[in-house]
Amino acid sequence: MSRHKLGSGFLASALAREIRRLKPSSVFAVVDPGAKAITESALQNLPCVVMRGTRGERLKTPEAAAQLTQKMVRKGLDRQSLVIAVGGGASTDLTGFAAATALRGVRWGVVSTTLLSMADAGLGGKTAVNLPEGKNLMGAFHMPEFVFADLATLETLPSTEWTSGLGEILKAAMLSGTAALSRLEAAQASDFSPEILGRIQSGPGSEKSALLQTLQMSVRVKKKIVELDPLESGLRKTLNLGHTFGHALETAAAQQAASKRLSHGSAVALGLLCALRFAVEAGLAAPTYYERILALTEHLGLPTQFQGRLPAPNELRRLLKHDKKALGGKLDLILPTRPGAVEMIEGIRVGQVERVLRRELG
Ligand SMILES: NC(=O)c1ccc[n+]([C@@H]2O[C@H](COP(=O)([O-])OP(=O)(O)OC[C@H]3O[C@@H](n4cnc5c(N)ncnc54)[C@H](O)[C@@H]3O)[C@@H](O)[C@H]2O)c1
Ligand SMILES: [Zn+2]
Repeated sequence: MSRHKLGSGFLASALAREIRRLKPSSVFAVVDPGAKAITESALQNLPCVVMRGTRGERLKTPEAAAQLTQKMVRKGLDRQSLVIAVGGGASTDLTGFAAATALRGVRWGVVSTTLLSMADAGLGGKTAVNLPEGKNLMGAFHMPEFVFADLATLETLPSTEWTSGLGEILKAAMLSGTAALSRLEAAQASDFSPEILGRIQSGPGSEKSALLQTLQMSVRVKKKIVELDPLESGLRKTLNLGHTFGHALETAAAQQAASKRLSHGSAVALGLLCALRFAVEAGLAAPTYYERILALTEHLGLPTQFQGRLPAPNELRRLLKHDKKALGGKLDLILPTRPGAVEMIEGIRVGQVERVLRRELG
């Protein structure tokens, strides 16, 4: 596994140390424009070429990855180079994909600058770009040398992105167990907002902050699973909890007015509720578990309803099938059964999945 560091205010010195340790021939820092201002000072004294990366989901494309690769090759990328991906999950997924494929793979590191990416996307070595046919359909496993999450970089993160991060964190807490869920239930909205950052940086008790503890929990859950199954032959699929529904909803929302857009984490939160409903209807989970997660979803400020118009049944089935886990019109679903436990059910008919989604959100 990669070296991982989570804390506050360490970024510049840790990056300098990694560059000394890895002794690359050249270093390319590819920076998400959204994270540019907040990471500028940490990058400015490093021996690296700073490049503008892409921003957000819409530009997570093979074309953008090819352009980035071209730019790096022109500036002298070779097999001993190091690529540092700085940004949110969409940007680092793309930069990581370029690093995985350029010259058949060069070393890379991740600097996560969104809550979601600190909790999930930055970890585990999955890289990808989207195709018109669906999300993350072109990708590679390419383990980074290091993953850094410096809470100070969250200072400029918009509130919608804090909420999005909480969607993936809720998933991690469901995989972790009842203690993690209780801690989220006890947290306050201000624990997950920029106002908490000043207090964390100013010292005493910072190690006890709900933000830090929550991220540590998410990282623990993901690391444990990825270490056991790095290439997703089985166990790692449990990290897709809520994602079959979530991806379909995210794509459906993206096709509607901009005001109806769903962030990845918010779509995952809705997906978790759909998966829970499926589990309850199948007799695999207790209704009280559903009620608990519904209340927690609201408590965290995550959506519990789909704001746009749900697509017609045929279109929704098409979207569900485009999830790359679909085989021959049937889906494998990860279902939450109780806090800390899931079950994978294989070969479920898409129509059945679509009807549960509609009952939950229609
Ligand atoms: N590789 C994996 O294992 C994995 C896991 C989960 C999700 N993902 C992917 O992650 C992506 C979602 O990532 P995300 O939630 O980080 O969204 P994102 O990358 O789209 O970033 C959201 C927005 O925040 C901006 N931003 C980034 N850092 C900022 C900062 N510090 N201050 C202000 N603005 C900032 C970005 O420019 C962007 O506009 C999806 O593409 C998803 O598929 C990957
Ligand atoms: Zn996700």
